[in-house]
Amino acid sequence: MNILLLGSGGREAALAWKISQSPLCEQLYIAPGNGGTGAFGTNIAASPLDFDAIGKIIAEKNIDMVVVGNEDPLVAGIVDHFRAIDAEKPLWVGPSQAGAMLEASKDHAKRFMARHGIPTAAYRTFTPETIEEGYAFLETLNPPYVLKADGLAAGKGVIIPETLEEARKTLAEMLGGKFGKASASVVIEQFLKGIECSVFALTDGHGGYRLLPVAKDYKRIGEGDTGLNTGGMGAVSPVVFADAEFMKKVEERIVRPTVEGLIKDGTDYRGFIFFGLINVDGEPMVIEYNVRMGDPETEVVMLRVASDLVELMAAAARGSLGTLPLDIDPRAAATVMAVSGGYPEAYEKGKKIEGVPAPDGTTVVFHAGTRLDGPVLLTSGGRVLAVSSYGATPREALAASYAALDTIRFDGMYFRRDIGRDLQALADKQN
Ligand code: AMP
Ligand code: GLY
Repeated sequence: MNILLLGSGGREAALAWKISQSPLCEQLYIAPGNGGTGAFGTNIAASPLDFDAIGKIIAEKNIDMVVVGNEDPLVAGIVDHFRAIDAEKPLWVGPSQAGAMLEASKDHAKRFMARHGIPTAAYRTFTPETIEEGYAFLETLNPPYVLKADGLAAGKGVIIPETLEEARKTLAEMLGGKFGKASASVVIEQFLKGIECSVFALTDGHGGYRLLPVAKDYKRIGEGDTGLNTGGMGAVSPVVFADAEFMKKVEERIVRPTVEGLIKDGTDYRGFIFFGLINVDGEPMVIEYNVRMGDPETEVVMLRVASDLVELMAAAARGSLGTLPLDIDPRAAATVMAVSGGYPEAYEKGKKIEGVPAPDGTTVVFHAGTRLDGPVLLTSGGRVLAVSSYGATPREALAASYAALDTIRFDGMYFRRDIGRDLQALADKQN
């Protein structure tokens, strides 16, 4: 198969690494890719949102399957656009535009969950016309308050004020255009207390699905989960509390009703579903859906998928996973993000990166915000490198990643030293 992968982050680097290992993969192209993805295939400088450019690559490279890494092209309807031209070829791993609404609109996702009886926080949605009702709804809730921009806001659209006064002010600011069109509607929901994890399913649109390894990501910039939200500073898999009993509830109450709900709604969805879950006293509830894999979760999930991912994705895209197994490597995996100084606020690019170790069977460094200038590797984004490792336990995997980070240098480099520590404390308590 000739495969085209869309995107340029650490997630796509990890997907490219995994795809390139499949005996079914003849040629892999990544558009646009980054400074590291060229090790696994051929980078082509094209934006996933430029459908004409993508169409040219599909034709010229005789592409058999397209894997859409990030949500933007899905929300823009890339799958519908190309299926209308040719329903058979290439295969598409990623939902239709209607399916992508699970991520593109929080209000849509909430309605979907209500319709299909999927556990999530109680909520209401408000617009500038109903702001007074919004203020009244806030009065009925206990602090802290959860306010979410309805639309896509690059992971920054959720604000959790501690006081009623702040919550009122935040609602007014959001409806006043704080996140542009994305916050023209605001979802206010009940605050849930618990620990989060990321569950991923690959679904074939006909009721078949396979669960991928469960991961936990670390969103805040600072150690101890403090400071601003980022795209993700690290991830670990497996997740100690996502045991068989918890995962049985997740499948019965969340995964299956979601997969079946999409079918009942007549929504064409063949691809990855990302369930952002929270464990509230042993009961899983949905915080959010995404219509793609997570970043940096993919950097640990791909390490742990033992089966041929290309075979699985192609089967899902054709509409039948059949009996294909998705086997999971028993080892643990961890990734730690090296980021640019200043991120997630203003940061400088173009810093020379040195000391990146070659993959050695334990550690593989997935590039995220990097680019090659001739032979020289430079930073080109906030999240620069996802230093990912195997270990017999999460602790060992983390130790390997931290050892590798000791050899890597670029001006202003920062990373969190406490990735996985909360799960370690939980595990220690259980033993
Ligand atoms: P989201 O973009 O919906 O994933 O929200 C970003 C983050 O806000 C989540 O990862 C949670 O940490 C937090 N969050 C969102 N909704 C809630 C909620 N109802 N209760 C508690 N925390 C929440
Ligand atoms: N790591 C969270 C996300 O990919 O949205």
